[in-house]
Amino acid sequence: MNQIDFPDILKDYGQHHILDHYSRLAPDKQKELYDHTAGLDLDLVFKLHRDRARAGDASSLSVEIKPSLIVPIPRTPEGMGRHAAARSAGESLISADRVAALIVAGGQGVRLGHDKPKGTFPVSPVKNKTLFQLFAEQVRALRARFSSRMPLLIMTSRENHDDTIAFFASHNYFGIDKNDVFFFSQGMLPTITPRGELLLKDDAHLLANPDGHGGSLKALATSGLLTHMIDLGITELFYCQVDNPLVKIADPVFLGYHASAKAECSTKVVRRESIDEKVGVYVSLNGKDTILEYSDFGGRHMRALDEQGEILYWAGNTAIHVLNLAFVKRLNDHGFALPYHCASKTIDKPGPDGTTRPIDVWKFETFVFDAIPLAERTCCMEVDRREEFSPVKNKTGPDSPATARRAMVELHRQWLEEAGISVPSKTKVEISPLFALDKEELAEKLKEKTLSLLEDVYIEEIS
Ligand code: UD1
Repeated sequence: MNQIDFPDILKDYGQHHILDHYSRLAPDKQKELYDHTAGLDLDLVFKLHRDRARAGDASSLSVEIKPSLIVPIPRTPEGMGRHAAARSAGESLISADRVAALIVAGGQGVRLGHDKPKGTFPVSPVKNKTLFQLFAEQVRALRARFSSRMPLLIMTSRENHDDTIAFFASHNYFGIDKNDVFFFSQGMLPTITPRGELLLKDDAHLLANPDGHGGSLKALATSGLLTHMIDLGITELFYCQVDNPLVKIADPVFLGYHASAKAECSTKVVRRESIDEKVGVYVSLNGKDTILEYSDFGGRHMRALDEQGEILYWAGNTAIHVLNLAFVKRLNDHGFALPYHCASKTIDKPGPDGTTRPIDVWKFETFVFDAIPLAERTCCMEVDRREEFSPVKNKTGPDSPATARRAMVELHRQWLEEAGISVPSKTKVEISPLFALDKEELAEKLKEKTLSLLEDVYIEEIS
């Protein structure tokens, strides 16, 4: 291959430093760089760069922000009745094989000191089960409970795709039929400097970043999985992030509210713990439901209180959604509809002499929650964070493995206590999803057995 073969687009965009580098490479390395570059959407990244470089200050645009209408946690007999009806509608959807579960797991557990796919991080308090095992066991239990074929979809990234598949294979897909577990990789976009230069990661690769969790909705389409799911008769996709071990996969109540609202995109929210909590906020923006990321929401709104002194915009994003698949298809029908966000970062760039130097870059990515204002109908429900939300993001402190383990122990202890079994305070408990998916199922099973006979309720003294 000679230089003439190299994508003309690099010349068109003035990337002569990459072409110079290319001309000095051995033929096999030239081919590698060529193939790698050809697989990246350069037109898109240069367009995003151009738009970003031209963008003015949007903060002065007039916007009207209000709290949204949200289905509350039920506290009255009427509320309980609505929840029961939603549960039964959701259960019917699962039984009718209309629901698939998607876990977005493109990241590594680097911030946790775990340089492997984040889903392989061991997190449960007694058995040390990984995030992936906890999710897969829920899917297995749902499939058994509802005689459903519910497929499990895992979105990976280039970085962790092979390791993720190998992990599931080595654990025999946690007991789910392997034909119903699907892996697909999200896209990558070249990282670019504010001056519009592409960078080399090494001799044969451009520096690139995953295209954000919104990329799951694009990669579903480009991988062919979206069509496959629709052909299987799946209409609703339960969506969650890999980092929350408390998530109720395909919660029938949530599915039921989503279906009865004929929503195209639904969301679970929790009350923000404090004005500083780093969660997105679910609001109505110019009359459309929207999630604004904490970094974009603006201090004034983040801190706003109501007349009772409570946080006004209280609805924190759990990143748990249900998406209607016809809607996901529509988002892809005329080019991918989600907007790209630009993150400005400073990275250490390795130089030819082995030293590194700081360099400013722009990374473009999409956020799945930007689908919400594009939906014709939406639904949002509040859930109790103690029951459903304890993400693992940091090695220590808030949102860490320690806080998630504590939340799991407290939840499962609560389930046992509600079933009439008191658990000594100095013990850890963990209830396998394969034994009970919720407190109702646990109570039912406890009618049949004594605690000492329960194989899947793990209790351990805290030393
Ligand atoms: C995210 C949400 C925030 C929400 C919080 C709840 C964004 C921008 N913000 O914050 O509104 O309140 O979760 O926990 O998403 N991922 C991929 N591929 C990517 C990027 C992310 O698979 O390209 C997955 C990761 O595996 C990760 C998850 O998405 O588990 C969250 O992404 P992250 O960027 O860490 O967002 P948060 O700051 O945690």
